[in-house]
Amino acid sequence: MKICVVGLGNIGFNLFTYLCNKFPGEIIGVDVNESRVKELRGQGYRVTADYRALTKIDVWLMAPSTGNQGQNLFSALEKMLICPGALISIESTLPPGTMSRVREFLEGKGFNLGTDLFLIHVPHRVMFGVDKTVCDTPRVMGAFTKACLEKGRQFYAPLVPLLVEVSDVRVSELSKVVENVKRYVDIAFAQEIYGYCADQGIDYDELRLAVNSKNNVELLATDWGIGGECLPKDMKFLQTVCDSTLMAGAEQADRDYRDRIVHQVGSGKQVLIRGLSYKAGVKDLKHSRGVDLVRDLEAAGNTVWVEDPLFTSDELSGAGFSPNDEIDQRGGRQDAEMNRIAIDRQKALNLK
Ligand SMILES: NC(=O)c1ccc[n+]([C@@H]2O[C@H](COP(=O)([O-])OP(=O)(O)OC[C@H]3O[C@@H](n4cnc5c(N)ncnc54)[C@H](O)[C@@H]3O)[C@@H](O)[C@H]2O)c1
Repeated sequence: MKICVVGLGNIGFNLFTYLCNKFPGEIIGVDVNESRVKELRGQGYRVTADYRALTKIDVWLMAPSTGNQGQNLFSALEKMLICPGALISIESTLPPGTMSRVREFLEGKGFNLGTDLFLIHVPHRVMFGVDKTVCDTPRVMGAFTKACLEKGRQFYAPLVPLLVEVSDVRVSELSKVVENVKRYVDIAFAQEIYGYCADQGIDYDELRLAVNSKNNVELLATDWGIGGECLPKDMKFLQTVCDSTLMAGAEQADRDYRDRIVHQVGSGKQVLIRGLSYKAGVKDLKHSRGVDLVRDLEAAGNTVWVEDPLFTSDELSGAGFSPNDEIDQRGGRQDAEMNRIAIDRQKALNLK
C-alpha cells in the first residue's frame, strides 16, 4: 500500500507518525507549507510539498485545515493525482454539506464513487492533552455508498478502537461539529454559572464537586474563554446551516465573560496572567483566549506580565509577551506588588 497524509499540522502530523510506525516505508506526507516540509525533512521524515511527486497512491488521508468553505480541501483535491481504485478519506472537520461538494467535484473528474473510487468521511475527534494519538478515540465513518463504507472499514477497523458506521454522510459531518458545539455551549453555561457564583460569594469548585457527584452530569471548569481552533470554528460551521438562539446566546455569553474579566481588572494596573496556552497542558498559543485577554487588558491601559509552566521566559518574550521574571529585572517589583493583580486561568473572576 502507498498511503499519503495530506496536511501535516497538529492532526496530520500526529496521524503521519502513528502510521509510519504501523506501516513502515508505506507512508508519505504532503503539505503546502514549504518551511514545515523542510523542517520535517530535516528530522528525517518522508514528506514533500510537491503533489506531482505523489503517484500511484492507494489511500489518501486528508487532514488539511478546512478553510471557511473547505477551500484548502478542494485546493488539495485539485492537485492530487488520483488513481482509479484509490480510497480518499476526509479526516478534516467539514462545514455540513461539504461532502456533497466533494462528491460533485470527483464525479466531475469522471469517477464513479463505489466502483472506481472510494470516498469516506472519518472526522477526527482527538482531545490533545488527553489522547496520545489521533487513533485513540472511536471514530465515526460516513460515505455515499456501501462499497465505500466497506473499503473504509478494511482500512480503519484495525487502526481505531471502534468504528461507528453511519448510513448518511451528513451524519458524519454533523456528528463532528455537533460534539464541538455541544462542548462550546457547556463551557458558556459554566462561565455564566461561575459568574453568578462570583457575584454571590459561592465557591464554584465546591459547586462543581456537588453537581458532578451525579454520574450523568458534568459542570465544566472555566478558562479564559472559549478558544482553540476547533470550538469557535465549528460553532460558525453549524450556524451556517442551523439557526439557533441557544448557539447565538452561547457566543454572546463567551464575549460577555471576557469583557467581564477586563472590566473587573479596570485600568492602570500591573496584571499577572497565569497560563497563556490555548488550553492548560497543551503548549500552543494559536487561538488562545489568554493571548486575547492580554491584548485586551493592555488596550484597557494595564501593564501585563505572563507566566505559563509550558513556556520558558525566552519563549514568552519571543512571542511578544513580558514574562513574569522581568518584573524584578526592571526594578519594579515593589511598585508592582502594591498595585498588582494576579489572575489564574481557571479562576479568572477571582482576582488576587
Ligand atoms: N487540532 C485539533 O485538536 C483538531 C481536532 C479534531 C479535528 N481537527 C480538524 O483537523 C483538521 C486539521 O487541523 P489541524 O489542527 O491539524 O490544523 P493545522 O492548522 O495545525 O494544520 C493544517 C495543515 O494543513 C496544511 N494545508 C493547508 N492546505 C493544504 C493543502 N491544500 N495541501 C496540503 N496541506 C495543506 C497547512 O499548511 C497545515 O500544515 C481541521 O479540519 C480541524 O478542524 C483538529
